[in-house]
Amino acid sequence: MPADSLEKVAEEVTGCPKCKLSRTRKNAVPGEGQLAAKIMFVGEAPGRSEDDKGRPFVGAAGKILDEMLAKAGIQRSQVFITNVVKCRPPNNRVPEDDEVAACMPYLERQVALIRPRIICILGRTAYSSLLGGGSITANRGKIIEKGGQRYFLTIHPAAAIYNRSMLALLEADLKKLAKEVGCTEGWNERSLEDFM
Ligand code: URA
Ligand code: SF4
Repeated sequence: MPADSLEKVAEEVTGCPKCKLSRTRKNAVPGEGQLAAKIMFVGEAPGRSEDDKGRPFVGAAGKILDEMLAKAGIQRSQVFITNVVKCRPPNNRVPEDDEVAACMPYLERQVALIRPRIICILGRTAYSSLLGGGSITANRGKIIEKGGQRYFLTIHPAAAIYNRSMLALLEADLKKLAKEVGCTEGWNERSLEDFM
């Protein structure tokens, strides 16, 4: 059997019929980023913008995530961004257990290929699906180790869209994550040119 690859996972996700979300999606959203990513971000599910474009975190929540990554000095090339389920649930409802179970093998293959230093859990759906966790607000900012994999817990960017205090928490968390992974070296000298 040929070796697995991120491209192969993406191709299978794009035509995947394994759960009922396949019947209502416009575009499946496999995720994007580098094979060499140090951090994997795992959100809940594609929303409307993501379903339209076939790319993760490109709507309002994505804008927040991009801003917070920039503030933390984390470059897009250092991360891989995906979701627990790869297809949009109708009306953005929370993914159901059978959908999460059907989709999990794709995420597991992505993790096995990338072997990230840490997986950043964005919000409660990713927390419960990957770690069986409960309240994310009570545990945010924490690092957890499970099955030889490290996880960092933080709130979902969508929770920060209309809530300044949540936004400040997300910013603090991602700065902590950047420090933990050592993402910031070589970035500060470049940031002036990049943003001017
Ligand atoms: N919310 C998510 O959980 N994932 C996305 O890709 C976009 C919004
Ligand atoms: Fe397949 Fe996952 Fe999409 Fe369900 S959500 S159809 S399992 S890719």
